[in-house]
Amino acid sequence: MSAYRYDVLIIGSGAAGLTTALRLARARPELRLAVLSKGPLSEGSTLYAQGGISAVMGPPDSLEAHIEDTLRAGAGLCDEETVRFTVTHAREAIQWLIDQGVPFSRQRGEDGTEAFHLTREGGHSHRRVLHAADATGRALEHTLEAQIRAQENVDLFERHIAVDLITTRKLGQEGHRCLGAYVLDREHRRVEAFSARATVLATGGASKVYLYTSNPDTSTGDGIAMAWRAGCRVANMEFIQFHPTCLYHPAAKSFLISEAVRGEGGRLLLPDGTPFMHRFDPREELAPRDIVARAIDHEMKRLGVDHVLLDISHKPATFIRSHFPNIHRRCLEFGYDMTREPLPVVPAAHYTCGGVITDRCARSDLPGLYAVGETAHTGLHGANRMASNSLLECLVFAGACAEDIQKHIEAFPVPGDPPPWDESRVTDSDEEIVVAHNWDELRRFMWDYVGIVRSDKRLQRALRRVELLKREIEEYYGHFRVTNDLLELRNLVTVAELIIRCAMSRKESRGLHYSLDHPRADECHPPRDTVLTPPDAPPAGAAARAVGADCPR
Ligand code: FAD
Ligand code: SIN
Repeated sequence: MSAYRYDVLIIGSGAAGLTTALRLARARPELRLAVLSKGPLSEGSTLYAQGGISAVMGPPDSLEAHIEDTLRAGAGLCDEETVRFTVTHAREAIQWLIDQGVPFSRQRGEDGTEAFHLTREGGHSHRRVLHAADATGRALEHTLEAQIRAQENVDLFERHIAVDLITTRKLGQEGHRCLGAYVLDREHRRVEAFSARATVLATGGASKVYLYTSNPDTSTGDGIAMAWRAGCRVANMEFIQFHPTCLYHPAAKSFLISEAVRGEGGRLLLPDGTPFMHRFDPREELAPRDIVARAIDHEMKRLGVDHVLLDISHKPATFIRSHFPNIHRRCLEFGYDMTREPLPVVPAAHYTCGGVITDRCARSDLPGLYAVGETAHTGLHGANRMASNSLLECLVFAGACAEDIQKHIEAFPVPGDPPPWDESRVTDSDEEIVVAHNWDELRRFMWDYVGIVRSDKRLQRALRRVELLKREIEEYYGHFRVTNDLLELRNLVTVAELIIRCAMSRKESRGLHYSLDHPRADECHPPRDTVLTPPDAPPAGAAARAVGADCPR
């Protein structure tokens, strides 16, 4: 008998996973929930979010302006109804966070009244980003962590990595349904079967597929790869967002310098001190990220330099220290005083706009399987995510997911005990070097061939290499006992292939996807999502039919 039987299994403990868990656990205290995290509970992209969360807090800003900015940044590929849905639920999502105790920064106005301080970031026509100084993610994650640890009907499994979803198909049973997941307990090196009536993927993005990234080690696209293997469609994986400004320093491991630094007046300069953004976009430093990252890449290649500069030292030191205490302190540790000198910066992979296709209730194609947060493709971001819309998406869709599960859980069958994980034909690896080598190779060719600027030839090269690596890794996976690194590598190679295939099928440049061979947007056809369908996909609409209620999109 499986010891791990739950009503709901939530894989991931960032903003998306913890919000889903808290909302659901409180609304239905009789349900038993499990939350998994690969490492410590708080480790994930959420913890490192700096800039903040976008929400319209009142005039002169408006919901229509937020919708319009999001659509414009998305370059014709946002789903307008999803944008509308997300933007209109932003105030409620922020209020929920305030109720949990997230300490958003406030300021006193000239009339003496106190209000939330709103910062500005690229693509936003108004100040509308709520933040907790320059460490919003830390404030959010630690607040939610404290709440979830106090929740009696939730069991937390840290250092547990989901290996694969358990589905009726994989067990040779009739129909299409997710029944839970096989999970590696990293400490005891055992794979356990977790069965659940509903499973939620909240595993974050896949930016670790690139050599340089702002993301923590957890972002290996596990949820996207698992959902793909379980038969779910995936969309728009070519739209990988490169953040323009990570600190250029060998020991900094791509430490992010928030876009809010540009929002508060920071200028981008060439190494000789010349400004350049005016040559690329009238919005200059506050153009959307795709434009700024490409401009930096272009200038670095043109001049053969390894970084550009970001300068906010013209602002008063007290202003810089109070708005960016965390960034200021970290930069000092690396030897840069941003109150007195410019910072060396480079772009790095930052955000996965595509992912597992979901509807507005966060349902994937597979009945019983939901996806929320960066792992999902909801239609909000289109071809380019606007800054600070990501945490917002996590919160709003986690709410929708919790509500849908609450409503329908009684109709979800209780799965029987899945067969135990079969290790009879594998041994411990005697060649860990294969895993380490393939990790490095994959991330380097993805950076070189599938990066900020792409071409048909580079994508072809990348595809050939990824196919070879995939075969090698599958063979290795079939022979050796699973480890955390092997599981992540297997997922990364799957996600890399999805990115390459999506990029190859888009014969135009749009948003974050820029190709030298197709440098313009295709004006002859309406913009279309890139949708990849796995061989064993459930029939369209299966998830909606399974709960007897439809959900838009
Ligand atoms: P994450 O927070 O990444 O959490 C993923 C969770 O899944 C982790 O708990 C991990 O352990 C777990 N997990 C993954 N795979 C498995 C597995 N196989 N088994 C078990 N558990 C697994 N967005 C904004 O809107 N505003 C910002 O200011 C902002 N700043 C950012 C700054 C940085 C440096 C970075 C990296 C991102 C930033 N973003 C920002 C983006 C935003 O932080 C992320 O998109 C968001 O936090 C993703 O949340 P999530 O819950 O989907 O995933
Ligand atoms: C940043 O602070 O620049 C990151 C914001 C984001 O990714 O939304």
